[in-house]
Amino acid sequence: MNPKRIVVTGGAGFVGSNLALFLKRDLEGVEVVALDNLKRRGSELSLERLRRGGVLFQHGDIRSPEDLDALGAADLIVECSAEPSVQAGYGGSPAYVIHTNLSGTIHCLEYARKHDCALMFLSTSRVYPIAGLRALPLEEQTTRLVIPHGQGGLGWSEAGIAESFPLQGSRSIYGTTKLASELLIEEYRAMYGLRTIINRCGILTGPWQMGKVDQGVIVLWMAHHLFGLPLGYMGFGGTGKQVRDLLHVEDLYDLLRIQLADLERHSGSVHNVGGGREVSISLRELTDFCVRITGRSVPMGADPVTRDFDVPYYISDHDQVTRLTGWRPKRSVEQTLLDIHAWIRDNRALLSPLFGVPIDNH
Ligand SMILES: NC(=O)c1ccc[n+]([C@@H]2O[C@H](COP(=O)([O-])OP(=O)(O)OC[C@H]3O[C@@H](n4cnc5c(N)ncnc54)[C@H](O)[C@@H]3O)[C@@H](O)[C@H]2O)c1
Repeated sequence: MNPKRIVVTGGAGFVGSNLALFLKRDLEGVEVVALDNLKRRGSELSLERLRRGGVLFQHGDIRSPEDLDALGAADLIVECSAEPSVQAGYGGSPAYVIHTNLSGTIHCLEYARKHDCALMFLSTSRVYPIAGLRALPLEEQTTRLVIPHGQGGLGWSEAGIAESFPLQGSRSIYGTTKLASELLIEEYRAMYGLRTIINRCGILTGPWQMGKVDQGVIVLWMAHHLFGLPLGYMGFGGTGKQVRDLLHVEDLYDLLRIQLADLERHSGSVHNVGGGREVSISLRELTDFCVRITGRSVPMGADPVTRDFDVPYYISDHDQVTRLTGWRPKRSVEQTLLDIHAWIRDNRALLSPLFGVPIDNH
């Protein structure tokens, strides 16, 4: 596919702004429009970057179909807007997360149907149920939990969680809005012939992620080390042994380009996309990396209590997408962390208010 006009929703957010800028940089003659309501604190910091990179910014809200209509036609919509926190709705109303993540996706689908435009959807590992992930037979090693050698079951193995992992059970409001969106995307594909791609991502990270406790933890960890702010291990006994894979946003972009190049072939696909076992880390290991890179330790608290939405282990088994496309993550944990470190270091003044750093603590 050779798109002439691309809309990126959530285009001032971490994933959206990076993808919008990469697409504008690499696709000759393309117009890229980033739509965002700037709900996420820190997204406003991307506006100048977008402008310099030649991406047009449109303030708008995907909860409002009129805001999408006002964009005019496009050949591709990359849906990156979201309330992306798994904690959204706990202890309060779920209205915002449902209206943005589910109604918003429906508005994007309607937009795509009207303009015969392809849709790429950023889904999440959080579509997999919490109880199922907690039931994995994990073994505790010195710095992390692991799936014991040779063990496996339906949709899980030492390689991680595959697309066939059972979907029965609750998964958080966030995960449910994403799974419900996936189901509707498939219906629009089947009924209206929309070209669609769904990538279920594990942790995505890299420069320009405005890390916070409930989303963007890798950046948050590095920033706290750089700025000398306290941190804490939460849940699973407070040992910091919970494990995630992580994927540099540039690795995600590499995959999107492969999928875009042969959209007809890849349309309808749903893949687990992440760093996999090779690019995975426990919180405790993340601390060690951050100390080594920044040369600084920070006070580390521990809260042993596991919250309802916590899962001890998630690694994407990306074998399906790798076999189909040849794609695999290229950036290591260390390289990704070094990139994040360099970005925060080079943008201290811009970023310190976001992390609540007193100005003389630079
Ligand atoms: N970052 C991750 O680890 C990760 C992992 C898996 C999936 N995802 C998915 O990737 C996508 C991008 O996530 P991200 O990490 O860039 O999050 P982000 O919070 O950095 O970006 C989301 C953007 O959407 C905007 N937004 C929120 N509500 C909106 C609305 N109603 N209308 C228009 N814009 C709105 C926010 O202001 C923000 O700029 C999301 O769909 C998320 O679910 C992210």
